[in-house]
Amino acid sequence: MLLFTLLFAFNSAVTIASSSPSQVVLPKPTGRYLVGRTACVELIDYSRVQPFAPGLEPVRLEISLFYPVIDQRHHKADFDAVAYFPAAVAQFEDAALSDIGVRAPNGTFSKLALHLASDETCQRSGSHQPEVDFPLAIFMPGEGTTRLWYSQIAATVASNGYIVITIDPPYNVDVVEYSDGSLVLLNKTLWGTEDYEALARTAYVGIQSQAQDVSFVLDQLSNVTLARTLVPNLPASGFNTTTAMFGHSLGGSTAYSILEQDARVLGGLDMDGGLFGPGNGTDKPVMIMGCGNHTRDHDGDFTQITWAATWPNLTGWRREITIADTLHYDFSDYPVVFETLGISPNLTIASSSHGTQTGTLEGHRVLEIVTSYVTGFLDFVIKGKNSPLLDGPVAGFPEVAFQY
Ligand SMILES: *[C@@H]1O[C@H](CO)[C@@H](O)[C@H](O)[C@H]1NC(C)=O
Ligand SMILES: *[C@@H]1O[C@H](CO)[C@@H](O)[C@H](O)[C@H]1NC(C)=O
Ligand SMILES: *[C@@H]1O[C@H](CO)[C@@H](O)[C@H](O)[C@H]1NC(C)=O
Ligand SMILES: *[C@@H]1O[C@H](CO)[C@@H](O)[C@H](O)[C@H]1NC(C)=O
Ligand SMILES: *[C@@H]1O[C@H](CO)[C@@H](O)[C@H](O)[C@H]1NC(C)=O
Ligand SMILES: *[C@@H]1O[C@H](CO)[C@@H](O)[C@H](O)[C@H]1NC(C)=O
Ligand SMILES: *[C@@H]1O[C@H](CO)[C@@H](O)[C@H](O)[C@H]1NC(C)=O
Ligand SMILES: *[C@@H]1O[C@H](CO)[C@@H](O)[C@H](O)[C@H]1NC(C)=O
Repeated sequence: MLLFTLLFAFNSAVTIASSSPSQVVLPKPTGRYLVGRTACVELIDYSRVQPFAPGLEPVRLEISLFYPVIDQRHHKADFDAVAYFPAAVAQFEDAALSDIGVRAPNGTFSKLALHLASDETCQRSGSHQPEVDFPLAIFMPGEGTTRLWYSQIAATVASNGYIVITIDPPYNVDVVEYSDGSLVLLNKTLWGTEDYEALARTAYVGIQSQAQDVSFVLDQLSNVTLARTLVPNLPASGFNTTTAMFGHSLGGSTAYSILEQDARVLGGLDMDGGLFGPGNGTDKPVMIMGCGNHTRDHDGDFTQITWAATWPNLTGWRREITIADTLHYDFSDYPVVFETLGISPNLTIASSSHGTQTGTLEGHRVLEIVTSYVTGFLDFVIKGKNSPLLDGPVAGFPEVAFQY
């Protein structure tokens, strides 16, 4: 039997009315809806052991939810500046990003805020606010980051009419802060090795475990009582857990691998992650979004080899696109965050394997491209809507190339 506990923190505590002068606020999400956030929800799966923990412990997941808000208060300021990171994570990231080519002295990321709808909306649960009845999309981050580094992407997709759930797999990401304030860090012994066969084995187990994490979260979200505490004004039926997944790097591998394991996940969008892990292919929709000229190639790097090997086994709808002038971490919030804070990385370091691995495309533009194609994919997979973006090159996005 699966048990879980649920703890709240961080949501109202860090929300302050509008922005304070010391804050630097990211752009307003560009879709038609305002966005609310429920951060730091903790779900514990006591039926499984966390694979890369130092000892025996249950799987303990932190998730965030970004949901559309239908605003009826036209006379009011329409946003709050909501802290991007909790304080301890902000300090951690100052040091982590300084190590990879960005000048981020202590205090840099604690200033950062998201432009979200007023938290007041949450407190009006059960009021005259319209129901938040939108489809669910699941997201997982890349190895060695944190789900929080994708909050602007998640908020922007939410503003297009999705409830986006971001999930942190502990020990695979740099840092997870739990509701009790404790931090769990990346398992560097496993992930830091230069033995590529060992690394591939670790990644395989990581993907397997992360796919189970996603199924566990969907199981929990089907509990209507719980669901209605997470998103205000959810309909009486709760979430519709028929969903699609997108993910970056190891999270993208998970978005592929889960397809044959969980019938609720209708399609997977893989942003620059290897197509491997448990599974031998799928007939569900799969889209690969690669950086720069990173395309499937039997003689390429590990990721490219997995794309080439798995491609023939994608027997349903499939697409492969690339975005020019990007590198691996352009599929995170790095570019828009650096642009907003005015801390452009040293490009020599940034483009190296020890750098931020961000390219030369401008931050707001990368965000626009990534979130447009993610939304197009979700519209197609979940709503069955045809999007011209998925059919081939379009004039509005000359950076995007299709591989056939
Ligand atoms: C990493 O994972 C291995 C295998 O589960 C475990 O033995 C080790 O203690 C972990 N190390 C850290 C630093 O968490
Ligand atoms: C960063 O600043 C905080 C708050 O001023 C302080 O508590 C912390 O010790 C500083 N950390 C480092 C590494 O300087
Ligand atoms: C559903 O969630 C509620 C609220 O968190 C909890 O009290 C209840 O035990 C859950 N039900 C099941 C079947 O897990
Ligand atoms: C993948 O294929 C291998 C060999 O054909 C088979 O043993 C394995 O069970 C398959 N795995 C899945 C998840 O279908
Ligand atoms: C492709 O499918 C075949 C047949 O099921 C299987 O043997 C093979 O391992 C699969 N390859 C990949 C890379 O999934
Ligand atoms: C791919 O892009 C890199 C970096 O821009 C460049 O050095 C390389 O020549 C390109 N490779 C191909 C095959 O175009
Ligand atoms: C960027 O980093 C390179 C390599 O460390 C260094 O040689 C160069 O001076 C740096 N450029 C700037 C503008 O700091
Ligand atoms: C849940 O969403 C799926 C995909 O959009 C849809 O086919 C299904 O009818 C929905 N279920 C309910 C109960 O609304």
